[in-house]
Amino acid sequence: MDCIKVFAPGTVANVACGFDVIGLAMDAPGDEMILRRSKEPGIRITAVHGAELPLDPAKNVAGVAVQALLQKYDQPDTGIEIEIFKHIHPGSGIGSSAASSAGAVVGVNHLLGEPFTRKQLVRFAMEGERLASGSAHADNVAPAILGGFTMVRSYRPLDIITLHSPAELWVTVIHPQIEVKTSDAREILKQKVLMTDAIRQWGNVGALVAGLFQEDYELISRSLEDVIVEPVRSILIPAFHELKIKCKEAGALGGGISGSGPSVFMLSKGEANARNVAEMMDKVYAPLGVDYKIYVSQINTAGVKVID
Ligand code: HSE
Repeated sequence: MDCIKVFAPGTVANVACGFDVIGLAMDAPGDEMILRRSKEPGIRITAVHGAELPLDPAKNVAGVAVQALLQKYDQPDTGIEIEIFKHIHPGSGIGSSAASSAGAVVGVNHLLGEPFTRKQLVRFAMEGERLASGSAHADNVAPAILGGFTMVRSYRPLDIITLHSPAELWVTVIHPQIEVKTSDAREILKQKVLMTDAIRQWGNVGALVAGLFQEDYELISRSLEDVIVEPVRSILIPAFHELKIKCKEAGALGGGISGSGPSVFMLSKGEANARNVAEMMDKVYAPLGVDYKIYVSQINTAGVKVID
């Protein structure tokens, strides 16, 4: 096989209480990528459609992630061409760089005959995240590659666990069309946390994981609380608090900032609630004079898919 097309899903990182450790994958939006083997040695990004991103493979997250894979494969000069169709806006908070990195490594792994497991691919895709934000976090690339909800138990050594995705869980995301760079959104965080906040946060993380496995939607709802990162970052997002309150009134279980923002996500039980939440997001944002997009999606349990 010399050429394939992949779908690489958008992701919600952090999932409220799980800063840098929990993430989930969505069915939409997502990017598409065509990957080809080439006789000419080295990686080439032949085109990026839908976004202004570098074609230099050393400056493009897909190029960097594939280079990390080829290095480990011990054939760093393998010829690979990558064409990217971006549907996830860079700087949106729904895992744009992660989708490119994840799609690229899953695609190239497929072209090479699957020398690596999906879990092993996460480490290569994290190099794309390092380039994009200065931090090799895995809470977007892990769900993008593995699908569903994932948890990073440890970064050193890397230990990633796939969590259970309750069948009726839906996600609604609003993407205000303003850019928040992940590197900036990380810069403003405090480097130390209060013990009282830490206790509340790890209580929520444990309970969220239990809620997912038990399909206990009430427990999921109670656990979607972030007392450490959200209070700092929410100032970057127009009408954040109003949005959260109104979405819960409209039937959401809860939610928070998607990744480093500016997108905001809400989880709901069932499609009807998720669509009510989308309507409410629209109502809250329509008068603000900020352009926005809204997505309603089920949890994508497959991760990156080979589509052609
Ligand atoms: N966990 C990362 C952060 C995700 O919040 O900075 C970035 O999308």
